[in-house]
Amino acid sequence: MRFKAVVVALLSLSFAAVASAAQPIIIKFSHVVAVDTPKGQAAAYFKKIAEERTKGRVIIDVYPNSQLYKDKEELEALQLGSVQMLAPATSKFGPMGAKMFEIFELPYVFDNYAEVHKVTEGPVGKQLLKSLESKGVTGLTFWDNGFRCMSANKPITLPADMKGKKMRISSSKTIEAYMRLVGAMPQVMSFGEVYQAMQTGVVDGAENSPSNFQSQKMNEVQKYFTLTDHSYSGYAVIANKTFWDKLPKDIREILEQALKDATQYNNKMAQKDNDDALAKVKKAGKTQITALTPDQKQAWKKALLPIHQKMEDKIGKELIQSVYRETNFDPAKL
Ligand code: LMR
Repeated sequence: MRFKAVVVALLSLSFAAVASAAQPIIIKFSHVVAVDTPKGQAAAYFKKIAEERTKGRVIIDVYPNSQLYKDKEELEALQLGSVQMLAPATSKFGPMGAKMFEIFELPYVFDNYAEVHKVTEGPVGKQLLKSLESKGVTGLTFWDNGFRCMSANKPITLPADMKGKKMRISSSKTIEAYMRLVGAMPQVMSFGEVYQAMQTGVVDGAENSPSNFQSQKMNEVQKYFTLTDHSYSGYAVIANKTFWDKLPKDIREILEQALKDATQYNNKMAQKDNDDALAKVKKAGKTQITALTPDQKQAWKKALLPIHQKMEDKIGKELIQSVYRETNFDPAKL
């Protein structure tokens, strides 16, 4: 009788083991932008190749467009383990205590993607990703979006045109500081709420990449879009650290390689996506796109430069200096 009970117990244990081995690992990947943006497409590509390469052992459920969580909630959900992966804009890491990520929001510190990649793909990028571990977060890679531009319902050409405008911003203290510097009134708001806030006049304008502007249909509710390109806009792809560490080693390695490939895919098409978005805004004909002359661009650079020094306490003087070195940025030469 005892022998039978032991056999039954052993059998059910091994059935359980088989069942759990057969259960796929589910990764919920939440983000706040549309599918037809660099991040939206890169997340979909990552899902495709990761699922193919893990042969059904991993399922990645991507939730775009703030479907699951808005800006702040998604970071909390990741830390609690309610979702396993995210790719928030670097401008949203401050509230988690990772203020160094605001280095990417420093106005005009990057002139192009090549300069950005010197940082994201080099030791500084590695150091930034590593710094997230103490928050229970594994930093995996960086994805480009584009360069941020100002939009509003009244024309914006020079920094002085920002005066008195209520501008939606994400939770970045750097963005808040430069908005205040030019006399605007920044309002922190989740990305998913921006269209309505523009439509109802809660804000006068915002700043974002062309792809985010167009894919959220902000051109329906903003008359002017000015190509200030005043800061880089990009993402850090992150995972819940406990979850990531517990993944079987072979699966983790496959996912890491899939992320490398998804990063290449993302960064290859980011520029084109933003160019296409601008063309669509132009074609829709509701928004006037203003390109700046070199002198006007220079006026923005000069006006926003004091933010670099102002943010030293938050971002770290040393980090700022090492990014200056990587990008050959010399504030004295502006
Ligand atoms: C924002 O302005 O909130 C965006 O940068 C969102 C995003 O993920 O690109």
